Amino acid sequence: MRGIILSGGSGTRLRPLTKITSKQLLPIYNRPMIYYPLNTLVKAGIKEILIIVAPESAGDYLNLLGSGKEFGVKFTYEIQDHPEGLAQAFIIGENFIDREDVVMILGDNIFEDDVSDAIKSFKGGAKIFAKKVPDPERFGVVKFDKNMKVEKIAEKPQEHLSDYAVTGLYIYDHRVIQAAKEINPSARGELEIADVNNWFLAKGELEVAMVEEEWLDAGTFDSLLKAQNFAKEKLVAKMVI
Ligand code: G1P
Repeated sequence: MRGIILSGGSGTRLRPLTKITSKQLLPIYNRPMIYYPLNTLVKAGIKEILIIVAPESAGDYLNLLGSGKEFGVKFTYEIQDHPEGLAQAFIIGENFIDREDVVMILGDNIFEDDVSDAIKSFKGGAKIFAKKVPDPERFGVVKFDKNMKVEKIAEKPQEHLSDYAVTGLYIYDHRVIQAAKEINPSARGELEIADVNNWFLAKGELEVAMVEEEWLDAGTFDSLLKAQNFAKEKLVAKMVI
């Protein structure tokens, strides 16, 4: 299993905090934000990790994280020239993924759950992680039918489809590269991860697991503040990095 941390984007929702630095390098209590998703991968035993960054902050990431030796892992770096969607990560990471399975985590997503078992039990196809939230309009959502069978994944739908947000943690087999190449950019010009998930769903190969413990996306001022406090109270004592 390979790991990808997608840490690109321009963090426009957090200006001016992100005017001179990358969102995922902002502090969450006593560590840079990216340490939290990195911790999730390291804890799950992932040894080879691709870090995808925006060009303007590539040097900062290299200075901060280095080779990975300090964390007992090996880092590879790639540049995402323009923020053209989460699914672009699999095209950028094509050579890195090769024929392996891959777990991708977003650089601004903070999980309390230990995902080691979810990774170990992965048997191909796609496995995504959902969480019931009060503000699903901020996220991709999972629409279930009345038997709780997955009907579709929708990216920030205008109408209310479900309370279940898709979190920024995704496991795929290597066909995710093909999926990312076959989907078309959305109306906002991005390769949407929702379309990758629907690609696997259409084949009957999408599994949706539930996140049991706390999950935060630190992409807004309020969620950033919440993440700071949550990290201090609950997370840092359990971290391995
Ligand atoms: C992205 C995804 C969205 C997902 C969210 C989780 O949104 O597009 O489907 O629910 O991450 O953090 P973004 O935060 O890039 O707007």
